[in-house]
Amino acid sequence: MPHTQFLATGFHVPARVVTNDDLAQMMDTSDEWIVQRSGIKTRYWVDRGDTGVGLAREASRKALDKAGLKAADLDCIIYCTCTPDHFEPGNGVFLQRELGLSDIPAVDVRNQCSGFIYGLSIADAWIRTGQYKRILLVGAEVHSRGLDKTSRGRDTAVLFGDGAGAAVLAPIDDDGRGVLSTHIFADGRYAEKLWVDGPGLAHDPYVSVEMLEQGLHRAVMEGRDVFKFASVKMPESVAIALKANRLTPADIKLLVPHQANLRIIEMVQKATGLREDQVYTNIQKYGNTTAASIPIALDEALAEGRLKQGDLLVLTAFGSGFTWGSAAIRW
Ligand code: COA
Repeated sequence: MPHTQFLATGFHVPARVVTNDDLAQMMDTSDEWIVQRSGIKTRYWVDRGDTGVGLAREASRKALDKAGLKAADLDCIIYCTCTPDHFEPGNGVFLQRELGLSDIPAVDVRNQCSGFIYGLSIADAWIRTGQYKRILLVGAEVHSRGLDKTSRGRDTAVLFGDGAGAAVLAPIDDDGRGVLSTHIFADGRYAEKLWVDGPGLAHDPYVSVEMLEQGLHRAVMEGRDVFKFASVKMPESVAIALKANRLTPADIKLLVPHQANLRIIEMVQKATGLREDQVYTNIQKYGNTTAASIPIALDEALAEGRLKQGDLLVLTAFGSGFTWGSAAIRW
C-alpha cells in the first residue's frame, strides 16, 4: 500500500492585523494579560467582503502552485472548518466551485481544532486504498465575525484569529516516507465545555431573537477545563504516535502542535520531553485559527527550512468536542 505524501502546502490570512492594543479599545483587556496568558500578540481578522471560502481558495491556489498542479488535477476536496460561511451546504462545495471544479467529491469535516488531523486521517485512508490520488486538504476559519467583542466575551475573543491553510496530498511508493500513522480521539462528555449552542435544530424555533439576546450564537468556553485536558491529551497523543511507530521523542525533528495557547504548547513540550527547537510556534502572530492552525504553521516551518527529506514530523491537536489526535509523518 502506498503512503500519503504532502506534495505542497500553502496558507493565506486576511489583510487586517489586529493587535492586543486594538482589542483593548473594544473590551476590558490588555496586551499584558493576553501575552501572559496566551502568548498571542497579533491575529488577522477579515474585512467586509472576505469569506472563509475566499481565504481557503487563496491558500489552495498557493499549495497547488507549489505542487506544480492545477485544480483540475485534484480528485477530492476535504474542507475542515467550524466556522462555515453558511449553515448548509458546507464550505467544501463552495470551494470546489471557486476552484472551477465540478463532479469531484467535497467533504466537510467538523472537528474544530482537531479538524486538520481528522481530515488527514480520512485522506490518508483514501490514498492508501487508492480511492483518491490527489486530495486537497484545507483548514480554514473566520472566527472574528462570530466573537463577542465586548468585555463579556473577552476570555474567548482575544484568542481567535482568521486564516486558511491547505495541503495537496498524493501517494508515494517509498515505504519509509509519508504519513506513518494518524490517531484520532473524541470525548463527547465535554461537548459543552467549548461550544456554540445555536442557532441549532435542537432549538424550536431553531433561531430566535431571545437566543440572540442571550448570546447563544457566540462561542463560550470553560477555559480552565479546556486548558487542563489539552495539556494532558496532546502529549498523550504524541506518545501514542511515537509508540505506534517504535520511535522516541529524540527521533522528532519537528512537532507542529495546534496553536491554541503558548502556555499549552510549552506544557506539551515539557511533558513530551522535547527541546524548544523541536517545537514550532507561530501563535504569537496568528492567534488560534482552529482547523487552519496546523497547515499555516506547517507551511511557515517549511518556508523556514525546518524540515528536510527524511525528518520525522509529528502533528498534534486538541479542541472542542472534546476531540484530539496526532499524526506521525516521515518527510
Ligand atoms: N483580559 C483581561 N482579563 C481577562 C480576560 C481578558 N481577555 N479574560 C478573562 N479575564 C479575567 C477573568 O475574568 C478572571 O478575572 P477574575 O479573577 O477577576 O475573575 C481572570 O482574568 C482570570 O481568568 P481565568 O479564566 O482564570 O484565566 P486563565 O489563567 O485560566 O486564562 C485562558 C484564561 C482562556 C487564557 C485559559 O484558560 C486558556 O488558555 N484556556 C484554553 C483556551 C483554549 O486554548 N481554547 C481553545 C482550545 S483549542
